[in-house]
Amino acid sequence: MIEVYDLQKHFASGFIKKKYKSAVQSVSFSIEKGETLGLVGESGCGKTTVGRMLLRLIEPTAGRIVFDGLDITSLKHAEMRKLRPRMQMIFQDPESSLNPRMKIGESIAEPFRLGLGGRCSRSEIRNQVQELVDIVGLNREHVNRYPYQLSGGQNQRVVLARILAINPEFIVADEPTAALDVSVQAQILRLIMDLKSEFGLTMLFISHDMEVVRHMSDRIAVMDKGRIVEIKSSKDS
Ligand SMILES: Nc1ncnc2c1ncn2[C@@H]1O[C@H](COP(=O)(O)OP(=O)(O)OP(=O)(O)O)[C@@H](O)[C@H]1O
Ligand SMILES: [Mg+2]
Repeated sequence: MIEVYDLQKHFASGFIKKKYKSAVQSVSFSIEKGETLGLVGESGCGKTTVGRMLLRLIEPTAGRIVFDGLDITSLKHAEMRKLRPRMQMIFQDPESSLNPRMKIGESIAEPFRLGLGGRCSRSEIRNQVQELVDIVGLNREHVNRYPYQLSGGQNQRVVLARILAINPEFIVADEPTAALDVSVQAQILRLIMDLKSEFGLTMLFISHDMEVVRHMSDRIAVMDKGRIVEIKSSKDS
């Protein structure tokens, strides 16, 4: 589903004298359809940078990314836009991916209104939103609230509902529970696992927590200072 060859990212710093800092150096891996690859490593080792490059949210300095047989490394923005719905990212902080001025129900309905899941009538959209609200374990009353009126865990459920509305094949989950209360972390992880298997998703699951990564992944890639130092089955670790 995803193949990555020799991916690199150097960030420029300094305005007068340009300096380059290498955040990711020569990372290669692949993820099979339906598989979860865990990406684990210390803070600052380059995990988020890898995740964002996979979806071309930031541009790689070098290397190649192949998505479902298609080399997307140098796709133009317009072509990338067409592909975007097939690849989605879950961020640590759910509020950052929700529009604060949109009611929860509107946020979940938006992908349908934009026609991402095919054309739908208003009543069809309403039914789909209700169904998604149930699937992610939200309450129907939440639909009329704003993100600031929900807890972090509830907002992460909204993010998941929205992503399901977009119906992607590949997901990058970047520390999706790190900002949540410990008591709800396990629930959200469980939900991600369930949705993953129910909808046959392929996933890159990023965390600095080896326990969590082992629990969530089929294979684990260990990163250190911008490199993958080991890829192993989660059963062997
Ligand atoms: N936009 C940027 N400009 C300059 N440097 C950056 C930028 N984004 C990341 N970096 C640097 O690249 C390195 C890798 O950062 P990255 O966010 O990928 O790490 P991470 O493994 O996700 O860390 P964490 O576990 O803390 O989220 C860090 O040294 C960081 O400071
Ligand atoms: Mg990160």
